[in-house]
Amino acid sequence: MFILAIKLLFCFSLVYIYLINTITLAQPVLVYNRCQNKENFTINSTYQTNLNATLSALHTTNSGLGFFNFSAGEGNNTVNSIALCRGDVGPDACSICLNESIVNLRRLCPNQKEAIAGYDICLLQYSNNDLLVYPQEKDYFVQFNPRIATDIDRFNGALRPLMDELRGTAAAGGPLLKFAAGNRTGPDFDRIYGLVQCSPYLTEEQCSECLEDQVSRIGLHDNGKMGGKIVLPTCNFRFEIYPFFNQSALAIPSPPVRPPSPSSSPPPGTNTKISASYKLEG
Ligand SMILES: *[C@@H]1O[C@H](CO)[C@@H](O)[C@H](O)[C@H]1NC(C)=O
Ligand SMILES: *[C@@H]1O[C@H](CO)[C@@H](O)[C@H](O)[C@H]1NC(C)=O
Ligand SMILES: *[C@@H]1O[C@H](CO)[C@@H](O)[C@H](O)[C@H]1NC(C)=O
Ligand SMILES: *[C@@H]1O[C@H](CO)[C@@H](O)[C@H](O)[C@H]1NC(C)=O
Ligand SMILES: *[C@@H]1O[C@H](CO)[C@@H](O)[C@H](O)[C@H]1NC(C)=O
Ligand SMILES: *[C@@H]1O[C@H](CO)[C@@H](O)[C@H](O)[C@H]1NC(C)=O
Ligand SMILES: *[C@@H]1O[C@H](CO)[C@@H](O)[C@H](O)[C@H]1NC(C)=O
Repeated sequence: MFILAIKLLFCFSLVYIYLINTITLAQPVLVYNRCQNKENFTINSTYQTNLNATLSALHTTNSGLGFFNFSAGEGNNTVNSIALCRGDVGPDACSICLNESIVNLRRLCPNQKEAIAGYDICLLQYSNNDLLVYPQEKDYFVQFNPRIATDIDRFNGALRPLMDELRGTAAAGGPLLKFAAGNRTGPDFDRIYGLVQCSPYLTEEQCSECLEDQVSRIGLHDNGKMGGKIVLPTCNFRFEIYPFFNQSALAIPSPPVRPPSPSSSPPPGTNTKISASYKLEG
C-alpha cells in the first residue's frame, strides 16, 4: 500500500510537471507591452487593413533563425512589422509565441499605429515608421530579482566578465543570429547564467554598444542583484543564478536553410519572485 501510494504520488508529479511544461510551451509569458499613443488609426481604415495583412503574413518570413520582417501598404498607410525569437527557442515554441503576441498586442493596443510586446521568448513590434533602425526610441523594460549578493564585488567580478564575453560572441554572430548564452562559477552559489541577444540587423558595433549600454545599467541601478532582465527593442539580456535557457540548443547549426532543431524542451517557467518596474526615457 505504501509503495503504491508513493508510486501514485510519483505519477501525479510527472503529470503535474508535464502540465506545467505544456502550459509554458503554449502560453509564453508577457513581460511588457507598450502602445504608442501618438498616432491612432480608425476602425476599418486602410491602415487597419494593412496591419491585418502584415500580421497575417509575418509568420511566413522566418529567416530560418527566428527573425521575422514584413511590411504592407504604401505611403502613410505602410505598416511595418518585425519579430524576434530568443536564440535557444525551437521553431514550434517560436511560432506559438509569435501567434500569441499578435493576438494579445492587438487586444492591448486596439487602435494604435505603433506597438511593441515583449515576451520571455519573443518580441513583436509593428509601426508606421521604419523598425529596422538603430537606435530606436530609448524605451526599455527592467526586471530585477530583489535578492542581493552577500559580496557584491565578488558577484560582479563573476557577472561582468560573463556578460562581456557573451556580448562579444553575440555581436560577432553575423547577419542572421546575434545570440549567446553561457554560465560561470560565482561566489556564494554554484553558477551565474547569462543570455544576451541583439536584433540580427544590427551591425557588430551596434549590437556591442546596445548591450554594453545595458550592462552598465546593472551597476547604475541594481548593483548586486542576483538576477535581472533588460529588454530594449534592439537588444536584451538576462542573468540568473539558476539555468533558464536551453543549454542543448546552444550548439546552433550554421545558418540558414534549416531552422534550429525542434527537439528543444520548453523553457523553464519564471517561478522565482521578481520585482518589476517599467522605465521610460526621453
Ligand atoms: C489614441 O488612443 C488612445 C486610447 O485608445 C488615447 O489615449 C490617445 O489619446 C489617442 N491618441 C491620439 C493622438 O488621439
Ligand atoms: C467595420 O466593417 C465591418 C464589416 O464591413 C462592419 O460590420 C462594421 O460595422 C464596421 N465598423 C465600423 C466602426 O465602421
Ligand atoms: C482586422 O483584424 C481584426 C482582428 O482580427 C478585425 O477585428 C478587424 O475587423 C480587421 N479589420 C479589417 C479592416 O480587416
Ligand atoms: C525586410 O523585408 C524586406 C522586404 O519586405 C527586405 O527587403 C529587407 O531586406 C528585409 N530586411 C531584413 C533586415 O530582413
Ligand atoms: C502623409 O502624412 C503627412 C504628414 O503626416 C501629411 O502631410 C500628408 O498629407 C499625408 N499624405 C497622405 C496621402 O495622407
Ligand atoms: C500561427 O498562425 C498561423 C497563421 O495564422 C498558422 O498558420 C500557424 O499554424 C500558427 N502557428 C501555431 C503554432 O499555432
Ligand atoms: C556551463 O557552460 C558550459 C560551457 O561553457 C557547459 O558545458 C555546461 O554544461 C554549463 N553548465 C550548466 C550547469 O549549464
